[in-house]
Amino acid sequence: MKHLLNITDYSTEELQALIDKAVFIISDPWAYNHSCEGKKLATLFFEPSTRTRLSFEAAMLELGGRVISVTGAGGSSVTKGETLADTARTVSCYADVIAVRHPLAGSARAMANSSAIPIINAGDGGHYHPTQTLADLLTVYREKGKLGGLRIGICGDLLYGRTVHSLIDAMSRYEGNSFVLISPKELMVPPYYTEKLGELGIPFVQTDDLDEALPEIDMLYMTRIQRERFEDPAQYEKLAGRYILDAARMKRASDDCIVLHPLPRVDEISTDFDSDPRAVYFTQAFNGKIMRKALILKLLAGKEHPDNTDLSPEGEKLFRDDTLSCTNSRCVCTHERGIRKEFYTDRHGTVRCAYCDQPVTAAKE
Ligand code: NCD
Repeated sequence: MKHLLNITDYSTEELQALIDKAVFIISDPWAYNHSCEGKKLATLFFEPSTRTRLSFEAAMLELGGRVISVTGAGGSSVTKGETLADTARTVSCYADVIAVRHPLAGSARAMANSSAIPIINAGDGGHYHPTQTLADLLTVYREKGKLGGLRIGICGDLLYGRTVHSLIDAMSRYEGNSFVLISPKELMVPPYYTEKLGELGIPFVQTDDLDEALPEIDMLYMTRIQRERFEDPAQYEKLAGRYILDAARMKRASDDCIVLHPLPRVDEISTDFDSDPRAVYFTQAFNGKIMRKALILKLLAGKEHPDNTDLSPEGEKLFRDDTLSCTNSRCVCTHERGIRKEFYTDRHGTVRCAYCDQPVTAAKE
């Protein structure tokens, strides 16, 4: 059984097949409306959501399937102390596929390890958000007619923005792309991503100047400063409102520079830009539902998919070692009892936690 933990779980061919299926669904919206009859999707959302949860649920309903759900941290036995592993084992008895959102990195992987049905990561802390990337890919493909050969601006909270991490993972696989990473220095993308881009020979620059970047990019991916990930509220206040894109500012950009945003927005895109044809963020929300339909169809057709819980996002083999431990307080590893501690060695020889991808050290005696 194949889970979707990060976008790198799918090859570019698999991504293209999902995009092609989505484009077909848009042309013939009723094509699959009985395909999931008798099937159930469970949505387990331990963090707030509007688009992701409702688009998953709408997608399943439009495929003829049904939905069961838990919302809010207080809505399930996890608050009684149940582990995510036991939750997954239990929900596997009631549904055919699970979409989970949780504040800890690696939470979807923790569930996948004990689930009898496919797990879809609908956002694990500030780590990954692969189904948002599916929405982003379809949007770029429909608006630009291609996924490569683009100068991609990404602006805002590149440190905690999980949509950004999965987007870079995806867009760095298409030929001819380059990146302009725009953020305050406190919110720069984790070094893992710049190292990866460097190694792959993909051109990128890091800057805090949105105005300077605007004239040279083909698309701009705006993001919200992720208030809920800050330990110090004063730090959030200091950085909030740093980038505000409005109609006047967008005059600096080319006529075909599309603007995406995973939404929700706070103040980083002014509503005076909404009617500009380059503003595609609400189309992007629509595209999210269509790609989730394509994804559910793929996962429920899934006999041929091999299990992928034994590989890292870059395809390295996982191993177990009791002398190692992950100390990342934002990782599921440091919270979940009885978790199967797994690691992998990356291409530099650095040992990383399989759940949060952070480097680990030998456990202290
Ligand atoms: C994003 C998320 O939850 O990471 N929203 C979404 O799923 N569309 C972005 C955000 O919350 O800023």
